[in-house]
Amino acid sequence: MQNATNDSSGDSLRARHLRITEPSPWVRRFAPLITRGGTVLDMACGGGRHARHLLAQGHPVVAVDKDIDPLADLADDPGAEIIRHDLEDGGPWPFPGRTFAGIIVVNYLYRPLFSDLLNSVAPGGVLIYETFARGNEVFSRPRNPDHLLKSGELLDLVHGRMQVIAYEHGIVEKGPIPGVIQRLCAVNDRDASQREDGEPEPHKVHPDTPSS
Ligand SMILES: C[S@@+](CC[C@H](N)C(=O)[O-])C[C@H]1O[C@@H](n2cnc3c(N)ncnc32)[C@H](O)[C@@H]1O
Repeated sequence: MQNATNDSSGDSLRARHLRITEPSPWVRRFAPLITRGGTVLDMACGGGRHARHLLAQGHPVVAVDKDIDPLADLADDPGAEIIRHDLEDGGPWPFPGRTFAGIIVVNYLYRPLFSDLLNSVAPGGVLIYETFARGNEVFSRPRNPDHLLKSGELLDLVHGRMQVIAYEHGIVEKGPIPGVIQRLCAVNDRDASQREDGEPEPHKVHPDTPSS
């Protein structure tokens, strides 16, 4: 068990996270890299703040969590596929053979899913990942090292497979939950180069929102 919610008093930690309704600035910043209209998977979506943001940007969204009660209002949204699923019960990956134009994971960590997660990013798709990292224990929960990324861990995860657009690791003092946070945005286009040197095409590190 390695997520931000199942430290001791995990329920209250989840409640604390559910009170945050604004999407993460990191997700806001990089969501425009996702192919317009492409389907986005919001892993361990909680109250669906990122699912809602992506829906508002015109993306169909698959939102998965073991508790989908907070997403009841999205049940009739034709763009939203809400899936109740325990991602840690040892069962098979819930999206076999399916790929997504974008995958968002925020404040959730369960390392056994890493391989399926990467395999589910479509060619040209975008992985946006942000969660707590080692050192966070002096700020607040999660404190269990199993729930905290190691320095460079997300870089290691995508190394040789995806083009890293942005990465940060360190103390974030501003925001709803100050702490040590690691963030990555990477694009699955390392093998799609049209260039003579084989390098992938660069992307904007401050992509515009579709409406701007
Ligand atoms: C800290 S919240 C983050 C929610 C959301 N990603 C966000 O940033 O607002 C962690 C979420 O992981 C979900 N979660 C924890 N364990 C899970 C499991 N085994 N299977 C599916 N979801 C799980 C919790 O229900 C909770 O909604």
